[in-house]
Amino acid sequence: MRTSKRKNPAGSGESVRPLITRAAIQKRIKAMSRQIRQDFPDEPLILIGVLKGAVIFLSDLAREISGDVTFDFIAVSSYGKDSKSSGQVKLNKDLDSSIEGKTVIVVEDILDTGLTLRYLLRVLQQRRPKHLRVAVLLDKVERRLTEVSADYVGFPIPNEFVVGYGLDYAERYRNLPEVKILSLPAGH
Ligand code: IMP
Ligand code: MG
Repeated sequence: MRTSKRKNPAGSGESVRPLITRAAIQKRIKAMSRQIRQDFPDEPLILIGVLKGAVIFLSDLAREISGDVTFDFIAVSSYGKDSKSSGQVKLNKDLDSSIEGKTVIVVEDILDTGLTLRYLLRVLQQRRPKHLRVAVLLDKVERRLTEVSADYVGFPIPNEFVVGYGLDYAERYRNLPEVKILSLPAGH
């Protein structure tokens, strides 16, 4: 039998199990896109994808939103001793264009502690967009360390490490077409 373990190129004992199917993702994205367009019926929208995790989500979301839509991308990384919870975030790649006076939707793969998003919103708000909203595919609600929330949420999920549909573990698994829960071998 072909197991997920054997399919893993690294062969490191990592295994994945399904959480959200491709069909469920596509259905939810259609509804989110309709909602976004309803909220801003006549406005050009700038989608800002947070590299790299949001790339797949953004490409599907963008194709479902009607009317005038453009993209831009930003890249951030956490740093500090405990990169997961330090809240220190570094801007690795800035936007190409000004967002002043524009309607902006930040597109993120997952909202976890919320520290990355809090930083991003602070930076972007200073540039005086007309509207600043957030769309995330996944929301790990119980992990939140700071008061920040998304305006459009694909799926609330439990506190599990997930991969696929753009989300990675050590840069791998981004290409999986669905969202899966990753289990690491003991000791990790
Ligand atoms: P936050 O600042 O803790 O909200 O972190 C958000 C970022 O952490 C996301 O954009 C992801 O890159 C990463 N992340 C958080 N949880 C997961 C996960 O379960 N799988 C993959 N990446 C994750
Ligand atoms: Mg990310």
